Amino acid sequence: MLGIIGAMDEEVAKIKEHMTETTIEKIAGMEFHKGILEGKDVVTVRSGIGKVNAGICTQILIDHFGVNAVINTGIAGSLRGDIKIGDIVLSTDTVQHDMDASGFGYSYGQIPRLDTLSFPADEKLIDLAEKCCREVNPHINVFRGRVVSGDQFVSEQTKKDTIANIFEGFCTEMEGAAIGQVAYLNKIPYLVIRAISDNADDTAGIDYDTFEKQAIENSAKLMIAMTAAYEG
Ligand code: ADE
Repeated sequence: MLGIIGAMDEEVAKIKEHMTETTIEKIAGMEFHKGILEGKDVVTVRSGIGKVNAGICTQILIDHFGVNAVINTGIAGSLRGDIKIGDIVLSTDTVQHDMDASGFGYSYGQIPRLDTLSFPADEKLIDLAEKCCREVNPHINVFRGRVVSGDQFVSEQTKKDTIANIFEGFCTEMEGAAIGQVAYLNKIPYLVIRAISDNADDTAGIDYDTFEKQAIENSAKLMIAMTAAYEG
């Protein structure tokens, strides 16, 4: 069983439309849509925005639905000049950019007393996503790199520069590293797929409104194609 998480309704709408035999269960205010997508058993859910929602949602997918992999699909702000609006980033790993225990000597992003700074994504899922992306989204570029997450919509150049420099992230969003942390602690493979909606700078708000729909289209299309090719 594959768990598919999107933070917002818009990010999972198309995926839910493609599902059949759907039954819905509501837990912690989240609607879990269990059914068949491209012949595979999946649970698709809108987690809500931010790290806490994403963490709760992932743990429910694991404990209650018994998923054996989790994929997060959605949009993000680019942290690099070569990653353009519409392009897709596949997480090699994820880091929480707003975790700061530097006062105790920890690196930025390091969760105190946890044995890792970043949460590595599953290499087989990355390979599969890249292959599928080239097939279904041939007009865009697909990147493999670090996804950074925080409970912040990044929309200032200075903030973006700080995050980009410290964490060497490819894109920034608000859930991926929480999903990564829960997957890591439960020893479950996971992947974050993010299409770029904005450049996480002073123009982010305007770009987001303009390009959100197209970016979601790209990531949802990939998610559906990837499910078809997924072997469990
Ligand atoms: N999701 C899409 N764009 C984002 C941004 N600039 N910051 C955080 N999350 C985002």
